[in-house]
Amino acid sequence: MGTVSRAQGNASTRDVMARKIIAIIGSYRKDGIIEHAVDAILRAAAEKGAETEKVRLIESRIEFCRNCRKCTQQEGPQRGACVHRDDMDELLNKIEAADGLVLASPVNFFGVTAVTQRFVERLVCYACWPWGKPGPSLRLKDRGIGAVLVTSSAMPAALGRIFTRSLGGLKRAAQTLGAKPAGTLFIGKAALREKQDLPQAILDKARKMGYEIAR
Ligand SMILES: Cc1cc2nc3c(=O)[nH]c(=O)nc-3n(C[C@H](O)[C@H](O)[C@H](O)COP(=O)(O)O)c2cc1C
Repeated sequence: MGTVSRAQGNASTRDVMARKIIAIIGSYRKDGIIEHAVDAILRAAAEKGAETEKVRLIESRIEFCRNCRKCTQQEGPQRGACVHRDDMDELLNKIEAADGLVLASPVNFFGVTAVTQRFVERLVCYACWPWGKPGPSLRLKDRGIGAVLVTSSAMPAALGRIFTRSLGGLKRAAQTLGAKPAGTLFIGKAALREKQDLPQAILDKARKMGYEIAR
């Protein structure tokens, strides 16, 4: 089981170490809009001295949650142990050791992609929910780290922010991981061409967010 957070170490230790930023990518396309946006954020974070890492959920072996609730039975801040033996443990260890997160998924059928949702459901290990208790309570309240949330849709961003649930899903995932949303990037009109460049305004916003999360 991993440590709760490197960010909980004392302030002077954190100041001398490069900040670690990990991006979790729920797009199916390596060369798509989401990955380009995440790359822009991470590039900026690296410019500010952060260590960055990108994890594509599509390349990770993550089993479906079985709703067995074995991982939710015990009390306390440590995540519960899952019955699955797959890549999730290692991924959560990396997330817990990070000083900042980027959570990214395109909008598919008005919500996050299935591969993102599969990852999100496995975060139930961060809830304490023993049998007999009507609902879960989160183990991690605030680890003092931020999460930039990135999504993209065919519809314009102004409509996407109203009619889709992807940002809400990513926000709940961040909160479950003890991170506070530190900014959102909603890229609209993202399905006009097979390969599409990001508009300069989005690149500028991505760079600002990268600087911000690396501070
Ligand atoms: C199966 C599927 C479902 C989609 N559903 C929606 C949707 O509900 N609303 C929307 O605006 N765009 C939808 N889109 C468009 C995707 O959001 C768009 O292709 C994606 O943001 C591009 O990101 P990527 O380049 O990283 O794949 C859908 C695309 C696919 C393939």
